[in-house]
Amino acid sequence: MVRTLGLTQLTMIGVGAIIGAGIFSLAAAVARGTAGPAVLISFLVAGAASLCAAFAYAEFAGMVPKAGSSYTYCAAVLGEIVGWIVGWDLLLEYTAIVAVVAIGMSGYLGFLLDAVGIQLPTWALGAPGTGTGHKIDLLAVAICLAVAWLLTRGTRTSARVDTVLTIVKIAIVLLVIVVGFTKVSTDNLTPFAPFGFGGAFAGAATVFFAVFGYDALSTAAEESVEARNKVPKAMMFSLAISMALYVLTCIVLTGMQHYTELDPSSGISSAFASVGLNGLANVIAVGAVIGIVTVTFSFMMGAARLWYALSRDGLMPAWFGAIHPKRKVPHRATWVIGVVSALLAGVLPVNAVAELTNIGVLLAFMVVSVAVLILRYKKPHLKRGFRCPGMPVVPVLGIAFSGWLMSYLLWETWARLGAWLAIGLVIYAAYGYRRTRRVMPGGSVDLDALDDLTDAEDAEPHIARETVR
Ligand code: ALA
Repeated sequence: MVRTLGLTQLTMIGVGAIIGAGIFSLAAAVARGTAGPAVLISFLVAGAASLCAAFAYAEFAGMVPKAGSSYTYCAAVLGEIVGWIVGWDLLLEYTAIVAVVAIGMSGYLGFLLDAVGIQLPTWALGAPGTGTGHKIDLLAVAICLAVAWLLTRGTRTSARVDTVLTIVKIAIVLLVIVVGFTKVSTDNLTPFAPFGFGGAFAGAATVFFAVFGYDALSTAAEESVEARNKVPKAMMFSLAISMALYVLTCIVLTGMQHYTELDPSSGISSAFASVGLNGLANVIAVGAVIGIVTVTFSFMMGAARLWYALSRDGLMPAWFGAIHPKRKVPHRATWVIGVVSALLAGVLPVNAVAELTNIGVLLAFMVVSVAVLILRYKKPHLKRGFRCPGMPVVPVLGIAFSGWLMSYLLWETWARLGAWLAIGLVIYAAYGYRRTRRVMPGGSVDLDALDDLTDAEDAEPHIARETVR
């Protein structure tokens, strides 16, 4: 692998993974139903929480610059069962992200079909409860299955194509901001917080979806120059750039159209159409679809890789992680993820799936922050490419912030997470526990394994297991 990526390219990759359905779809949905124009505050709060976690993630990425390593890292620091829970939790999170982004794309595709006079039947327009007569979000289902099909065919977008798509996405957001500002009416911005600050904070728990994705950068670490130093920096920069764009977009969106009239499925384009800029509304819809499609690809691929790593480590049956002999992709895992994300996207409203993602991410952020904190005291001399500032305050803040945001999520979301984790524990008890005990006598991982993990440039996620063996 040639190491060619510098800080600028890494930051672009980060921005490419962060900006997606969160701003294009959720901002309008949350402004309309939960926060009003104070959705701006929602984004700021979510950004602050994400920043604290990003510092912890960055310290971790500076130690183990390798994809899919969160679960191994947590296993090494907090024990195998915690590692498994994080891995299982991330599997849900990645699958739900694919669903949210597909629903977002479906909204904008629907907007474009409408513009050219094509009408889908009412039952196919959205999940039950999202509108009269809606039964399934057919376009979102089709997107999930199409992406799974493409990935199992071995389709990859090259780094160059990804960069071009990210540039298109940033250009579209800048266009929205620059043109949109000329159409902002301050009347629309009052009352600023119609649902009170409680509404803005509850909104933060939903739009939290928009402010993560930088963990995807660890995938690029293998191709980057001075990964230990550059990857953590790129995480910070990409989050900062995305936040600046989000804040401005929120002002434009809620300033152009009154929050009560925002369209939750194609918010930004509809806001432009509402002020008579129909041509631009279509351009934005095309840009949104092109810009966020890469997010679907990268998270479905991430989920499949994670599944592969879990099977390889004996925590899941090897059948799932099998690699297709010709196409060299974990085809079964990809199809399972494609079908599950299609089901989620087809029958749940976007807010519900976004909440499901967020509760998973927030849980993972908490565990990673705890692990970083513990490791500072247990292994102070470990080589770290980036040190989380303000120890121990920042990770503790990250944990507190994450817990606080989780408290705003609906009980249904908690119940879904509980059910998912319960299934995970059953699988662990019935399968993973026995399988990995054979290679990890005692069931726990030696912390010293981390020295090897951080030393080896090409450390594999299952290194802890091998070291013990
Ligand atoms: N942050 C990513 C998005 O908004 C997941 O689509």
